[in-house]
Amino acid sequence: MDMTTRSRDLPVPGGMEDMETKDYQGTGHVRIRHLESKEISQEDIDRILQLTGQLEKFEILMMYYDCALAEVRTKLEVLNKEVALKKNRNPFESIKSRLKKPVSIYEKLKHRKIPFSVENIEENLTDVAGLRVICSFIDDIYGIRDSLAAQDDVRIVQEKDYIANPKPNGYRSLHLIIEVPIFLMQEKKYMKVELQFRTIAMDFWASVEHKMKYKKEIRNEARIVEELRLSADLINQLDRRMQQIRDRIELSEANSREMSEWQ
Ligand code: GTP
Ligand code: MG
Repeated sequence: MDMTTRSRDLPVPGGMEDMETKDYQGTGHVRIRHLESKEISQEDIDRILQLTGQLEKFEILMMYYDCALAEVRTKLEVLNKEVALKKNRNPFESIKSRLKKPVSIYEKLKHRKIPFSVENIEENLTDVAGLRVICSFIDDIYGIRDSLAAQDDVRIVQEKDYIANPKPNGYRSLHLIIEVPIFLMQEKKYMKVELQFRTIAMDFWASVEHKMKYKKEIRNEARIVEELRLSADLINQLDRRMQQIRDRIELSEANSREMSEWQ
């Protein structure tokens, strides 16, 4: 959702009569009764933010995250251009970015039993701003990771290397939580951004596996899970083979360049 264009004239959501909202000591913490078992809607979230006087603060925070996404995207595009020129190929297939939806933010805090407030979002969630970088080859992932880590305005807060240590289900990707500064009119503010790096093949596996999670009542589920894990291992072998093929192509290109220089 585009937070910047969101209307301030919020509709009164249906079913909100059931809701009890109370601001405890002005902390913005809200207790909601009767909503526990229902799915919360965007309108409900807007209403909570409005009732607790946090709507503007929330929109500002989302704008900060959006700016952080733009900062990181630019950094990645710069690296892409440099590698493209030096190696004559793009290390990235695609870069996708997303801001976590307010409903998902609410659900995640609720799941962790943390009251929904703007401060708690910033303090507790590391994936409000997320980028998924799909690379052609495994070594590009580590190359980009090292280049980012070497930048003096980038702080690596957390690294989970599910390529070196895959999840039991076979999931592979490199996850980073980084902090980058955004430059506002009066201040410089560091914002957290989650980065997921994976190859095209890992992404293919992850999207199929993700769909599986939402399919209820699958017959032979254990068998399918095992098949998925085996497929993840095959995909890993394939990724490594493709890298070797690329190395051979690059070597033969370098050799023929050298030969032609002697002609
Ligand atoms: P959450 O952020 O609450 O998900 O927990 P976490 O911080 O322990 O998660 P982690 O860093 O391990 O993974 C976060 C994200 O990676 C998820 O939201 C997914 O996008 C992706 N991911 C992690 N594990 C899997 C998996 O097994 N399958 C797929 N398809 N995606 C995964
Ligand atoms: Mg996470």
